[in-house]
Amino acid sequence: MYLGVDYYPDYWPEQLMDEDLDGIVGLGANIVRIGEFAWHRMEPREGQYDFSFFDRVLEKVKSRGLKVMFGVPTATFPAWLAAKHPSILSRDETGAVRAFGGRRQYCYNSPEYREYALRLTRRLVEHYRDEPAIVAWQVDNEFGHEGSDMCWCPNCHAAFQRFLEEKYGSIDRLNETYGTIFWGQTYNDFSEIPMPLPTITTHNPSLRLDWARFRSRSLNGFAEALVRTVRECKGDHQSVTTNLAGGFFHKWFDHAEHARLYDFISYDHYPVWGGLREPLSPGELGMNLDFVRGLTGKPFWIAEQLIGAQGHDLIGYLPRPNQARMWSFQAFARGCSNMLYFVWRAMDRGAEQFCTGIVDQDNARGRKYEEVRSVFRDIAPHAELVESDIEAETAVLYDHDNIWSWRFQPQSEAFDFTREMLRLYDPFHRLNCLTDVIPADRDFARYKVLLVPVMQIMERTLADRIRAFAEAGGTVVFSFRTGIKDKANNLHFGMPQPGHVADLCGIRIRAYEALPKGERVRLAAAPDAGGEDLPREAHAEVWRDLIEPVSAETLYRYDDPFFPHAAVTRRRLEGGGTVYYVGCGLDDRAMRAIARIIVRERKICYIDSDPGVEVVERRVRGRRYRFVMNHNGREASFQGRRLNPYDSFIVPVDEA
Ligand code: GLA
Ligand code: ZN
Repeated sequence: MYLGVDYYPDYWPEQLMDEDLDGIVGLGANIVRIGEFAWHRMEPREGQYDFSFFDRVLEKVKSRGLKVMFGVPTATFPAWLAAKHPSILSRDETGAVRAFGGRRQYCYNSPEYREYALRLTRRLVEHYRDEPAIVAWQVDNEFGHEGSDMCWCPNCHAAFQRFLEEKYGSIDRLNETYGTIFWGQTYNDFSEIPMPLPTITTHNPSLRLDWARFRSRSLNGFAEALVRTVRECKGDHQSVTTNLAGGFFHKWFDHAEHARLYDFISYDHYPVWGGLREPLSPGELGMNLDFVRGLTGKPFWIAEQLIGAQGHDLIGYLPRPNQARMWSFQAFARGCSNMLYFVWRAMDRGAEQFCTGIVDQDNARGRKYEEVRSVFRDIAPHAELVESDIEAETAVLYDHDNIWSWRFQPQSEAFDFTREMLRLYDPFHRLNCLTDVIPADRDFARYKVLLVPVMQIMERTLADRIRAFAEAGGTVVFSFRTGIKDKANNLHFGMPQPGHVADLCGIRIRAYEALPKGERVRLAAAPDAGGEDLPREAHAEVWRDLIEPVSAETLYRYDDPFFPHAAVTRRRLEGGGTVYYVGCGLDDRAMRAIARIIVRERKICYIDSDPGVEVVERRVRGRRYRFVMNHNGREASFQGRRLNPYDSFIVPVDEA
């Protein structure tokens, strides 16, 4: 198990290095990450490579027995490169060239950038290929983060047209698929096709989805070239990874496809950042960690674990004592096997003066230093436990085409994709049920419950797989707008909604309504659904599908004289399977009641705990352990044990 810090010796006077490294060792650390933004230090002028500084760093690191994750520094390029080749700079949707000065302002489709980046990568990795202390290469930094996944430059426009020609073969086929007859947009040639730049009204939905797919292909294509070069040059003892940023559903690239490039995936875990007044909820943090684990199905590293308040020009929430420790334990509980904290010391100059770390600019070893040391001390004995399999019985499905389709057309001003994922995920998280968050094309036959949030794009293939799952006895929960579109982002024609799963759900959707922000509609539990502990009254927000049950029972209907339709239905299949259709943004209390019914019916492992007390049970060598995290800023209790605010610990189950 590697436990360490992100360290930037290139930012500080060299005479500080010994003191810094001794302080890092004093934490109980055994690894440092270095080099991730140091391209200019390695190539101060074109073609003049100089690794002597990092040679000296490595000598000092090795003399203390520390290992190294080395950053391939292509996220920030030298000013001389931008001056010589301004075409490497990406452009925003107004066509403005993004200025040198931030980071990741390069275009993924710039041939010049790729040439220089690969050359630097080759020289760096070859230089250290036999370095035993370097155990991993981190490629670039947070691909696609901070808006860098989108570029509207001429490189990208030409590449997009080539991408479309490769995909469709003929312009007629593209016109037919897109329905460009609408508004007289028929193209005679691929060279006429625009990027979906700002226009009057809105662009063709098929064009926009293909543009999103192209963005993903551009980013993953560049990453692929970098990783291929690292693999050609590195030592066999060195792994390849990258550090993923959060905000997965707001990025323009397929994370699962991206993750396949690496030996393991790393994640930058920031429960709160910038001007946020408070951290993300325990459920959203859990879902994010489960999403990262779901990318590969294997343990992941955390390359950057938050320890102090973080922000560029805006900062906000200050983590309370032991709260960062608690978040660290939550990460270990959900699949993290190795962790580095960001950052050893906050920088005194440059854009991240307010990104505080273990040590602040006063260079003193204070509370945060002790907090990190306590994490390393308490987690180190559990190396085997944190590598153990996580046997989830529930899975949440997502699909990037579907995510992007919603980003272009949210339909309701109140729609937020992450919120709709959480609407189905959180009730099971609150019951401490282990849940995987996986791409829809992953095999899901082994689970007991499948949660399928707002999967509006659904072709027959996925519908058939979900049907087979239900007919084999599985429980499925769909939410609203399911199955209305095809992979071209067009509405299914001649088919009742919810499309290919209408018969599986045993319903028809007769009409629908987008609800504005803040509006809630009342629901009433159906009389015969009273037998179960469903709240008699509930409400819905964001959206409502007006459902006509065909072979399903009604659990809730709209309390509305005009539209007394079913709002939430359930169909029992002969084979024991059950299919819920939640045709609205159902409130959390009702969702939790449904989750409890499902968990009891399917005999799923769950652990009751106070609100804000998260418990994750893992097993290794036949013994069961529980990670207990108190997300509350107040005392709580778990099974009779008093928990201090932000308490976090691991206990064997017989002691829990
Ligand atoms: C990201 C980057 C780091 C640093 C931190 C600051 O995670 O990977 O380089 O900018 O944010 O919070
Ligand atoms: Zn571009």
